[in-house]
Amino acid sequence: MDSVEKKESAERKKTIFSGVQPSGNLTIGNYIGAIRNWTLLQNEYNCIYCVVDMHAITVRQIPAELRRRTYETLAIYIAAGLDPEKNILFVQSHVPAHAVLSWDLGCFTMFGELSRMTQFKDKSQKNADNINAGLFTYPVLMAADILLYQADLVPVGLDQKQHLELARDIAVRFNNTFGDTFTVPDGYIPKTGMKIMSLADPSKKMSKSDSNPNASVGILDGYDDIIRKFRRAVTDSDTVVRYADGKDGINNLMTIYSCFTGKSFEEIEKEFDGKGYGDFKSAVGETVADSLKPLREKFTALMKDKAYLEDIMRMGAENASRIAARTVSKVHRKLGFAQLK
Ligand code: TRP
Repeated sequence: MDSVEKKESAERKKTIFSGVQPSGNLTIGNYIGAIRNWTLLQNEYNCIYCVVDMHAITVRQIPAELRRRTYETLAIYIAAGLDPEKNILFVQSHVPAHAVLSWDLGCFTMFGELSRMTQFKDKSQKNADNINAGLFTYPVLMAADILLYQADLVPVGLDQKQHLELARDIAVRFNNTFGDTFTVPDGYIPKTGMKIMSLADPSKKMSKSDSNPNASVGILDGYDDIIRKFRRAVTDSDTVVRYADGKDGINNLMTIYSCFTGKSFEEIEKEFDGKGYGDFKSAVGETVADSLKPLREKFTALMKDKAYLEDIMRMGAENASRIAARTVSKVHRKLGFAQLK
C-alpha cells in the first residue's frame, strides 16, 4: 500500500467512541467491561476515547480530586495498552464543541424522553439535595460526545444502553428534519465480562462509587488488598465451585476468573473439582492481582510524568477538535445559524 491507499483504508475504518468518567477509582469491572476491550479494537477501528470530566460534575466533585482523577484515568488508558499514537485519547472539557453540540441537541430532545431515563431516576434518588439540570440533560451531552465524531460503534455496558438508544433517536430525528447529518451509532456490547458484580453483595453491580471498600476491586488496588478482598467475597453455603442459578457470588467469581484467564466455566469447574471455596477465592485473587501488576507499574511511572500526560491531552484535544469542528459547522449551517467564513 502506498501512503494514499493507506490513508484511504484508514478512512474506511469504522469509528469507535467511548468514555469513562473520572469520578472514583476505576474497578476491575470497568477494566474488563470497557478499557481492556478497547485495546483489542485499536487496530481495526478509528478509536476515540474520552475522559468525560463534564459528565462527572453532574454530581458534586472535589475540584483537586477531579483534576487528579482526570490525569489518572488517562494514565490508566495508556497503562492498559491504549496507544496514544493509534487512538485519540482526550479530555472532554478540552474540546468545547461537546458543550456546543449538547445545547443544539438539547433543543431536539424532549422533556419526556429525559424524564424516562432510569439513570436519572436513580441518581436523583441518591442525590436528592442536588437534582440539577445537568443531571437531567446528561444523556444529551453523551449524545453530543458520540455524534460529534460520527461514531459507528459505541462500546458501553448494559447500564448505558438506554442513553445510547436516546442518542440514536436524536440522530435520526435530526437527520429526518435536516437531511443526513449524523451517523446513527450502534452499541457494541462485548461478549464477556459485561457485568461484574459487587463482592459484598453479588446481586448488585460492582460500582466505583460503592461506600463499602470491600465491595469493589480497583484497577489500582495494591496486590495484597486485592487478594484480601477476594478472600472476603460473599458466596453461598454450598461448597462446590460450579456455575448455577442462585449462586450469584460464585458465578461472579467464575466470571472474573474466566475473564482474566480465558478459561471456560467448564474448565474452571474441573480445575476446582474437589477443592473448596477458600482455594478458589485465593486463586481468583492471585490471578487478578498478578494480571494487574504490570498495569499498576506502568501507571505509577506515567503519573510521575505529568508533562507527558499533558502532551497526550494536548495532541488528543487537537485531533478531536478538528473532527468535532466539522460536525458543528455542518449542524450550524443546517440549523440556520449565520456563519462567518
Ligand atoms: N455515561 C457513560 C458512563 O457513565 C460515560 C460516557 C459519557 C460515555 N459519554 C459517553 C460512554 C459516550 C460512551 C460514549 O459510563
